[in-house]
Amino acid sequence: MGKKHDKRDGRDRADKRNKRDKRDARGKSAEGLEREPAGSAQPPATGPVSAPASALAPGATLATPEVDARAGRRRSPFDLTGRTALVTGASRGIGAAIARSLDAQGARVILSARTRSDCEEVAAGLDNEPLVLVAARATDDGAERLATEVLDAVGAVDVLVNNAGVARRSGSAELTGADVDLLYRVNVRNLLLLTARLIPPMIARGGGSVVNVSSVVGQRGAPWRAGYAATKGAVDALTRALAMEHGPQGVRVNAVAPGVVDTAMWRAALAQPGVVDSVLGLVPLRRLSKADDVADVVAFLASDASRYVTGQVIAVDGGMASGLNLYPSV
Ligand SMILES: NC(=O)c1ccc[n+]([C@@H]2O[C@H](COP(=O)([O-])OP(=O)(O)OC[C@H]3O[C@@H](n4cnc5c(N)ncnc54)[C@H](OP(=O)(O)O)[C@@H]3O)[C@@H](O)[C@H]2O)c1
Repeated sequence: MGKKHDKRDGRDRADKRNKRDKRDARGKSAEGLEREPAGSAQPPATGPVSAPASALAPGATLATPEVDARAGRRRSPFDLTGRTALVTGASRGIGAAIARSLDAQGARVILSARTRSDCEEVAAGLDNEPLVLVAARATDDGAERLATEVLDAVGAVDVLVNNAGVARRSGSAELTGADVDLLYRVNVRNLLLLTARLIPPMIARGGGSVVNVSSVVGQRGAPWRAGYAATKGAVDALTRALAMEHGPQGVRVNAVAPGVVDTAMWRAALAQPGVVDSVLGLVPLRRLSKADDVADVVAFLASDASRYVTGQVIAVDGGMASGLNLYPSV
């Protein structure tokens, strides 16, 4: 998907959301919102009333949807207004789509990747005071340095999306130690250390949500992916472990497992003859995933709408990993 197209999709969503909020403000009910009796305070017709960031602290919990006192109605549990979200690998692909989706739900997004100009291009299409923080190369102290910058800038995040990742497509015999080290450093080591550093301030602020971007190959075998698959299996394992450890403190930890998404990561493979058709044969929904398909599930997991969901790895793969397709040509 082209950048212009991505940006337009994000703006379309934001426009739709604004229209929906204005419609709600005029008195029509939206899904999941409980309305106050007639005569109670109504939100202004000019748009939604934003809860200030301070409304979440101190001691607030993200466990139940909050009441927007000024509007006199319950907030939509999908609403992320007043929340701050860090998205790693936000410069393109799935991470950029996640940044747009969280922004459209009202969150302030901190975008991180190694390439500042690409992050700034994504940030230019966002509405809620986005911030760009450049990630270090895949160095040993990269996670620590990013965490320090984030905490210096905003104190704590309510939502952490660990999306940055690298892939290697190679036969296992061709894998080098450097390949395996890079895969583990970016996909596992830095993800775990960044999360470990950002969770304590999240707890101090009243709780939050961590969403890791894994892959279907973390749970299903795939040829030429041994190194990459090993790292995604590790992401699934640490997702469950962190959910168990930090659930009692109000932090939920989940993962999404995309199938084949049309991004830079897969573009070269998809350009080879016959690959698209063979992938489509494995996908019951019979289309490749767009980055938005993954991003909207991440936004759900980031929000209070998923408040009783933790420790889960949710496949967002068009059904690809659900079973065996014995008749792929039908
Ligand atoms: N595409 C798929 O089919 C697919 C399927 C399953 C899972 N996934 C997972 O989804 C996530 C995003 O993938 P994508 O398809 O959007 O890939 P992508 O288009 O290659 O984007 C990767 C992102 O990560 C950043 N990044 C790469 N290396 C980094 C490093 N060392 N430190 C910090 N940031 C780094 C990149 O920005 P810079 O280069 O500017 O740093 C970019 O923003 C990954 O975790 C991937 O494993 C993808």
